[in-house]
Amino acid sequence: MMHNFNSGPSILPASVLQQAAAGIQNFNNSGLSILEIGHRTPLFEEVLHTAQTLVKRLLNLPQHYEVLFLHGGATTQFLQIPMNFLDTHATAVYFNNGIWGKKAIEQAQAFGNVYVAADGSDKKHAYIPKNYTLSKQAAYVHITSNNTVEGTQWHQFPDTDLPLVADMSSDIFSRQLDYSKFSLIYCGAQKNMGAAGVTMVAIDPQAFPTISRPIPAMLHYQTHINNGSMLNTPPVFAVYVAMLTMQWIQQEGGLAVMEQRAIERSTKVYQALDALPAFIPTVAKEDRSHMNIVFTTQNPAWEELFLQRCKQENMVGVKGYRTVGGCRVSLYNAIDMQSVDALVNLLHQCNDDFLKK
Ligand SMILES: Cc1ncc(COP(=O)(O)O)c(C=O)c1O
Repeated sequence: MMHNFNSGPSILPASVLQQAAAGIQNFNNSGLSILEIGHRTPLFEEVLHTAQTLVKRLLNLPQHYEVLFLHGGATTQFLQIPMNFLDTHATAVYFNNGIWGKKAIEQAQAFGNVYVAADGSDKKHAYIPKNYTLSKQAAYVHITSNNTVEGTQWHQFPDTDLPLVADMSSDIFSRQLDYSKFSLIYCGAQKNMGAAGVTMVAIDPQAFPTISRPIPAMLHYQTHINNGSMLNTPPVFAVYVAMLTMQWIQQEGGLAVMEQRAIERSTKVYQALDALPAFIPTVAKEDRSHMNIVFTTQNPAWEELFLQRCKQENMVGVKGYRTVGGCRVSLYNAIDMQSVDALVNLLHQCNDDFLKK
C-alpha cells in the first residue's frame, strides 16, 4: 500500500478514481467517454450544475453566490481578484503569511495599492498574526486560510466589514465555518477538491463595487457569471472529478465528518512530533494546520535518513517545499487513518534509532 502524503496534486478517494476511470470509458452509459462529450450538451451541463450546487450546499452559501469553474489555477486568481476589484488608486489589505500570500501581494501591486496588515517573514511564517489593524476603507481583505508550505492555518478569521477574500486552496472542504463571511473563496482543485486543471471561485457578486478599469472577458468575473461558467470550454474532466469528489464528501457526512477526521489525524501526528525529541514541529501550537504538518529534525543530518526510511515504507510526499526544505506531510480529506498510523509508527522508530535507544 502506498501512503500518499503529497501536498498537491494529492490523494483522492479510491471510489472517485474508480468512477472517474469508468467515466473515461463510458460516461453515464452514453457510449461516449467524458473526454469526448461536448461541453454544451445536457450530459455535461448536468455535471456542471451538480458541481455548482454541491459547492453551495457543502459550504452552506447563500443562494445569490455564484460558483465558477475557471482555468489558470489559484495563481491566476492572484491577479484576477485585483484586476476586477482593486481600482488603480484604491487600496486592498493583504496578509503576508507565506509563500502563496506573498505571490498574491506581488500580483495585486500591479493593479493598485496594497496595505500589508501583517508580515510573518521575520519568523519564517511559523505563526498566524494576532495583532494587526485593518483599515476601515479598503477594496477588500485577502488572506490565505491555510498556508500549504509553512503549515499554518487561520483558526480565527479577521473581523471586518470589508469584503473578505480567501485563498482556500489547501483547506477547502476540510472544516465547518460560516463561509458566508467570505465574499470570495477560491481554490485550485488539486488537493481536497479533485484533479488539477480547474479553479473554483465562489463569489458574492453584490459584495464588490464595479471599477473603472476595462477587463478582458476571460478575466472578468461578471462575464463568466453571465455565461454560467461556460464562457469558453471549461475543463470538463476536472469539473467531473470535482463533482465526484464533492459527492463523496457529502456521502461521507459532509464537512462535519471531514473536520472531525482532520483533527483526529493531525492530532496523532502532532502528538508524536511533540513527544519525540528527534523531530521538531515548526509551527506555534495554536496556529497549526490540520492539513499540512511541517517539521524538521533535531540533527539536520537525520532529515535525509528519515526521508529514506519513508521511501522504504512506501510513503511519498514527505519532503518539504522545494525552496523551504525540512519535512512536510499533507493530510487531506481522502487520506486513510492507516497511513497516519504508519507514519506515527515510523516517527517513533526513527526517533529511537536516531537517538540510539
Ligand atoms: C494556498 C495555495 N495557493 C495557491 C497555490 C497555487 O495554486 P495553482 O498551482 O493552482 O496556481 C497553491 C499551490 O499549492 C497553494 O497551496
